[in-house]
Parts: sequence; structure tokens; C-alpha cells
Amino acid sequence: MPNVMEMSPEEIELAITKGKLVFSIYGLGWMGLPTACLYAEKGARVIGVDINSRVIERIRSGESHIEEPNLQVLIKNTINKNFRVASDIKEAASISDIMIIVVPTLINEKRKPDYSAIEKVSREIGLKMNQGCIIIVESTVGPGITDSIVKNALESSSGFKAGADFGLAYSPIRAMAGRALHDIRKYPRIVGGINRKSAEVASIILKAIVSGEIIYTKNIISAETTKLFENIYRDANIALANELSIFCEKSRIDFKEIKEAANTQPYCHLHEPGIGVGGHCIPYNPYFLIDVAEEIGVELKLTKNARKINDRMPNHIVKMIKRALRYCRKSLKRSKIAVLGISYRANVKEIKNSPAYKIVNMLLAKGAKVLVYDPYFRAQEMKEMHIPFTESLEKCIDGADCVVFTVSHDFFKNLNPKNIVRVLRKPACVIDGCRIFNPEDVKRKDVIYYGTGLGLQS
Ligand SMILES: NC(=O)c1ccc[n+]([C@@H]2O[C@H](COP(=O)([O-])OP(=O)(O)OC[C@H]3O[C@@H](n4cnc5c(N)ncnc54)[C@H](O)[C@@H]3O)[C@@H](O)[C@H]2O)c1
Repeated sequence: MPNVMEMSPEEIELAITKGKLVFSIYGLGWMGLPTACLYAEKGARVIGVDINSRVIERIRSGESHIEEPNLQVLIKNTINKNFRVASDIKEAASISDIMIIVVPTLINEKRKPDYSAIEKVSREIGLKMNQGCIIIVESTVGPGITDSIVKNALESSSGFKAGADFGLAYSPIRAMAGRALHDIRKYPRIVGGINRKSAEVASIILKAIVSGEIIYTKNIISAETTKLFENIYRDANIALANELSIFCEKSRIDFKEIKEAANTQPYCHLHEPGIGVGGHCIPYNPYFLIDVAEEIGVELKLTKNARKINDRMPNHIVKMIKRALRYCRKSLKRSKIAVLGISYRANVKEIKNSPAYKIVNMLLAKGAKVLVYDPYFRAQEMKEMHIPFTESLEKCIDGADCVVFTVSHDFFKNLNPKNIVRVLRKPACVIDGCRIFNPEDVKRKDVIYYGTGLGLQS
């Protein structure tokens, strides 16, 4: 059989579904595990590789370590059949035709990119990979990183030349945790290659699981930059919404009303304000571009400011809580504060960079008695993170001086605000960080409502 780089598109398609080409997926996290399962579902032979032994054991026993709808079924149907897991990067590389890198790319304390995982995995793959294979990088990286760090590590440890001896392509994952299977399957996919052949082979491989359009960029650097621009666009627009909503809170203007009216103009797309931005992408990825821009003497002022504005939102919410309590003639220190929601996003069990987590820690540091409830989490999981948590909503809000809604889980939206208000220790306040209630349903003579983008309503 010819190697994958020599096959025709039809031969690649057939060889994938017949299990004739071996895939290794490096990094079995929120994005890597769904990717591995989608290929296994198509009949491909897949080795999922991860350095975390707990992750490997869970998947090997047929369980998912992340809460992703429908993922569990895919694992059960394929694990230990055409999908196996391993921790030996080199061994997997030695028998693989197609290698997909989805390891974490992070920032350090100084907000500088940390590409150590991607460099390490590339170096190890290079030690054992075979001529004629293809490597597709799917982790989010700054412009030029695949062509420098990844390519150099692969070439120096293998002695092969990218583009001549093996294929190299970059295709960012544009999915969101909690809907990864759906997004990976359906969203259009960006692909850039070290040469035309690499991009074409990568696109055939991607098409096996992606029904969305495949969009070629001129090269790898453009594909890397596309993903970062998407994230920065979103971050900047959320920052704009947050900034304008703070203005509205002080001006007795309702941001929500203005947003709905303004967005009827076809070029206006005001986003939702909130308590800050969390998750795996936006809090990190803008720094990948900021770093490269600084190296070439370009200051990305708006990008940096957007990060600052969104990072300050948890602090703003704590100020809102303080102000509302003061209005009730209470202090933070003596108050019981019920925080409803710890996830970073609605209807998802994920706490990474959650602004709600930051708010809880700030309130605790100021001496408040905090109790957290979130229908997606169990008390045991929160214990490890030192979060005062209860699995009972009733216990959380009973006798609270202040209730803070941080995330618009459907569960919270379906609550009757009157039942919440009834059990509070009056005078009390409700802080609606995600505008899920009508203020009129909350307000009473001894209960005030404070909404983002609306301000204090007594
Ligand atoms: N999570 C998201 O919403 C999302 C969306 C789009 C893109 N991305 C990008 O995808 C990449 C992966 O993110 P994630 O959220 O899946 O990460 P994650 O933290 O959920 O999982 C990463 C996995 O990689 C493993 N790992 C670390 N170093 C390794 C190595 N050297 N070899 C093998 N495995 C290793 C870890 O043990 C972990 O299980 C990142 O670049 C991220 O920016 C993430």
C-alpha cells in the first residue's frame, strides 16, 4: 500500500473507513477526545495518546472524563475495538500514518505563551515517525508557531524534511466545550499546509468527520491567525458590551433595551454583557497574537484593553454586590451570599477560567459567608477546589442576604423568582449577572434587584 501522502483522495477516504490507515490523536481533552471518537466512529483505527494516566484509565474502561453530550456512547461503541488508548507517544508515532496534535497551549503568569506541551509532543513524535506520514496540528497557536516550534522539533528529532518526507498542516478547532461533537462535525474548517499537497491530504482527512465546508488558506500562518482573529473579535465585542453596560448601570439606561433596538440596524451586532469571560480559548488566545505583534513592534491596544476590561468584570460584580448590600444596610463581612452558578458558560459542566469562581474567591477573601450551588456539579468535585458548595438549592438560598446569578443555566431560568425572594433574610438583594429575570418579578419593598447593564432597581 502506498503511504498516505502518495494516495489519491478516493484511496485515502476508503483506507480511513476500512481501518487501513492508523491515526494517533495526541491530547485526549475537551477537543482531542471528541476528535478521536469521531474518527473511530467512521471505522478508522485510532490510538488516543495522553500523558495523564487517569485520563487513559477512564477512557480505557469505557468512560469519558469530560461531560460532552453523546460522547460517552461513542466511546462505549469503539473503545478497545478500533479505538485504543496509550501513553507512549513514540510507540504510537512508530505505527501511525496520520497524527493529530491537540495538546494544550497555555499562557504563563506573565501572560506569555507556553508552547512546551506542543514542542515536547512534536519532538517525541519525530523520534519514531515514519517517512510518508502526515501531522496535522489542531491546537491553537500564535502565527508562525507550527512553522517554527513544531516543524523544527519534528525535523530535528526525525532527520526528515517537512513537505518532502512528511506532510505538515494546520487546522484550528473552532468548537466549544459542551457542543464539541456538533461543532467539529458541522462548522466550516480552515486548513493551511506547508505545501499544497499537505493541505489537500489534510482536507481529505478532515472531510471524513467534517460535513462543513473546507476553507484553504494560502499557508499555515494564515490558518493559525484566522482562529486568533475569531477569538479576538469575540473578546473585543464582549468587552464593548461590558463597557457600555457599566455606563448604562450608572445612567439609568437599560443596556438590554438599547441592544435590541440598536441591533435592528444591519451593521450593529452588540453582544451580551456579563460577569466576565471564561473557558479554554478567549482568556488565553489573544495573548498568542499580542506576543507575536510585540516581537515585530506592533502594539495591539484594543486587543489588550478588551482582555483587561473582561478580566475586570468579576471585580465589578463584587462591587455591585457591595453596593447592593450597603443599600440594604449590610456589610459583605456579615452577609451570607448565595452564588448560583460556577460554570464558565450556560448549560455546561466546565469551570476553566470561570469568572464565577473568581467572584467566589474575592468574596471569601473579603470575609463574606459564601455558599455556591450549580446543578452541574457535585459537592465532592468542589471540595477539591475549596469552594463552599451545597447540592441543595434550598440550603444555598435559605436565609441569604444576597443571591448572585452568575450564569444563565436553563435550570436557573426556569426558577420562579418569587420562591427565591421569599426565603431571603430581608432586607436583601438579588444580583442578576446574566439578566435572567424581569426586575419587576424580583423587586419588593425589602428586596432590591441589581442587573448587569441596568443597575440598582429598588
Ligand atoms: N476546549 C475548548 O473549548 C477548545 C476549543 C477550540 C480549540 N481548543 C484548543 O485545543 C487545544 C487543546 O485544548 P483542550 O481544551 O482539548 O485541552 P484539555 O486541557 O481539555 O486537554 C488536553 C489533554 O492533553 C494532554 N496532554 C498534555 N500534554 C500532552 C503531551 N505532551 N502528550 C499527550 N497529551 C498531552 C492532557 O493530559 C489533557 O488530557 C488547545 O490548544 C486549545 O486552545 C480548545
